Amino acid sequence: MLAARTSVFTESVIREMSRLAAEHGAVNLAQGYPDFPAPRAIKDAAIAAINADVNQYAITWGAKKLRDAIARKALAFNGIVAEPERDITVTCGATEAMMAVMLAIIEPGDEVIVFEPFYENYSPDAALAGAKLVYVPLVAPEYQFDPATLRAAFGPRTKAIVVNTPHNPTGRVFTRTELECIAALCREFNVLAITDEVYEHIIFDGRQHLSLAALPGMAENTVTISGFSKTFSITGWRLGYAIARPPWSVGLRKVHDFLTVGAPAPLQEAAAAALDFGPEIYAELRADYERKRSLLLEALQGAGFVCSVPEGAYYIMADIRQVTDLSDVDFAQYLIREIGVAPVPGSSFYNNPDLGRAYVRFTFSKSEATLAEAARRLPALRAGGGRRQLSAIATEGD
Ligand SMILES: Cc1ncc(COP(=O)(O)O)c(C=O)c1O
Repeated sequence: MLAARTSVFTESVIREMSRLAAEHGAVNLAQGYPDFPAPRAIKDAAIAAINADVNQYAITWGAKKLRDAIARKALAFNGIVAEPERDITVTCGATEAMMAVMLAIIEPGDEVIVFEPFYENYSPDAALAGAKLVYVPLVAPEYQFDPATLRAAFGPRTKAIVVNTPHNPTGRVFTRTELECIAALCREFNVLAITDEVYEHIIFDGRQHLSLAALPGMAENTVTISGFSKTFSITGWRLGYAIARPPWSVGLRKVHDFLTVGAPAPLQEAAAAALDFGPEIYAELRADYERKRSLLLEALQGAGFVCSVPEGAYYIMADIRQVTDLSDVDFAQYLIREIGVAPVPGSSFYNNPDLGRAYVRFTFSKSEATLAEAARRLPALRAGGGRRQLSAIATEGD
């Protein structure tokens, strides 16, 4: 028999959509990974590290060179003062960092607040750690939270709040006012903030990324999580990190040590080198993604979707009600099988699936050629006739 804790979550819907996309030859706009090359310089640095025989375990907390580079970046970019020997832990992606923190802090019955919709990993993370998630809605189409609702979510069992900005799946970038509201509640209720800032460099229209830990009084009670997957287009390298003061850093390091021992040693060397690349790499990343955002927005709007324009990250939540009467899950299947474009059903980002039934999520973390192919296929949605007819076709197909 499997342990009960594995029964409360299912296989990732996003990866399932990717598999279906491959099976049906659909353009995969489901899973958020780039299909274009990583920067030449980071690949060269990894190759050089392997050729220099950096083959053995790095220091468990991360290679010193990398932790030093992260400390410099955290100060310059995030406004966070971090002591590399004490506060920085390199992990196998932000994914491991989040799991390690949860395992390190949760006691049975503890509650963790998350904004809903949310990145699908948080639910299994909480389940494996034994936490109860408490959901605070980000209300479409602006995806803002109501401060009174947030306050009501804090209580005597609240251990932590997860704050993901720029936000997956909505593309929201929290404003200073919103972060100050969260910070004030964390201080008042003595709650740990766990931030997920993996999209910190993918941010549009001149916005600035703000880190919760940089707000007054927050450095001691925030675990800041980020990584290299998204910024350097290397999701398969599995490199992330957590910045936290003791006792949080002590706990998460203990868990990290026995979960994975450490992140890939030669790739840590390359990540350290990458943090010393000039600022133009980030400007280029933002400009590239801003262009891709326009391409996909135009294609989706042209096909009849109503879209919230993302402020950051690389996803678009599309309201499907003008296009179909189908539910998100049936429509996603239809889109993959009949139109040849794969999204993720909106319900997979909600605890209450009904809240996501009117949405599907598309990613624009793809080459312009891939996005152009999706744009070429999407008009078939309209060509297929009216929305009633579309429902009928999809039902027959099942
Ligand atoms: C919000 C968010 N956090 C974390 C991750 C995973 O990051 P990593 O590859 O560093 O584990 C993703 C990937 O899609 C994400 O969207």
